[in-house]
Amino acid sequence: PIIAILAGGTSSEREVSLNSGEACAAALAKHFPVEHIIIDRNALPAAISPARHVVFSTLHGTFGEDGGMQRLLEEAGIHYAGCDAASSAFTMDKTRTKRAAAARGVRTIAGLTFSARHNKPSATQIIAQLGPDLVLKPNDEGSSVGLHIIENRAQLDTALDTARDGDWLVERRIHGRELAVGVLNGRAMGIVEIRPKSGIYDYESKYTAGKTDYLAPAPFDDATAAVIRRNAEVAFEACGCRDFARIDFFFTPENEILLIEINTLPGMTATSLLPKSAACAGLDFENLLREMVAPAIA
Ligand code: DAL
Ligand code: MG
Repeated sequence: PIIAILAGGTSSEREVSLNSGEACAAALAKHFPVEHIIIDRNALPAAISPARHVVFSTLHGTFGEDGGMQRLLEEAGIHYAGCDAASSAFTMDKTRTKRAAAARGVRTIAGLTFSARHNKPSATQIIAQLGPDLVLKPNDEGSSVGLHIIENRAQLDTALDTARDGDWLVERRIHGRELAVGVLNGRAMGIVEIRPKSGIYDYESKYTAGKTDYLAPAPFDDATAAVIRRNAEVAFEACGCRDFARIDFFFTPENEILLIEINTLPGMTATSLLPKSAACAGLDFENLLREMVAPAIA
């Protein structure tokens, strides 16, 4: 088949996706016939046919990562790599993800979810439950878009004021080691540790060269690393994921492993986190992509 690589999209992460798409198209082109398709509307490109194509999507965020595109592909009978529509929609919801993982024994960050229009809590309620050191973020965004770091009541009031629509997640801020674990076909690969120079792994630290140091593999003793990897596999399974995903955690000073979220279509440039995790497991970028697309072709 021809691999149709989908990139761009209409979400706030379009630019990130364009970079992912370019890197993946170049790598996949070494082994397969490819068509690189830039998505500008929330629709299935008419050029893709179930008889000729298999889809490898690098769309991030709304529509591309939340099951919207996956459902259209399923309805059209087109095979594609990665999580199916149901698990994509499920994991786009950080709160549901945490709940499902917690039910399987994976610890998660204490937090509170609310609809900005319907049940926004007061600053007093939030601080009583979680303390004043907080992170507020959209429940279903990526790349730290809409992230607020909050250190006191005044900042919480301001942040709550800007949250006018949609669902939000306010969590205790964790001062620990931030980790990302790639999972491929249900098996966890290496643990990557993220050390943003600013102290906060926000959009700028994620996508500006030199603003973050990465340790891959992260320095952990074998027993701890095995537990972290197992947590990634359990979270992947608990949310019904398929093929691949990247699972993000904090490791606290008290040695707790706390799930942040699951990314079903994570950033995929050669220097992104999932490729770094794969490199720890001996898979270079090209071979990682061959593995990622293999189940869709089979
Ligand atoms: N949401 C971005 C693309 C990531 O998780 O890598
Ligand atoms: Mg994310």
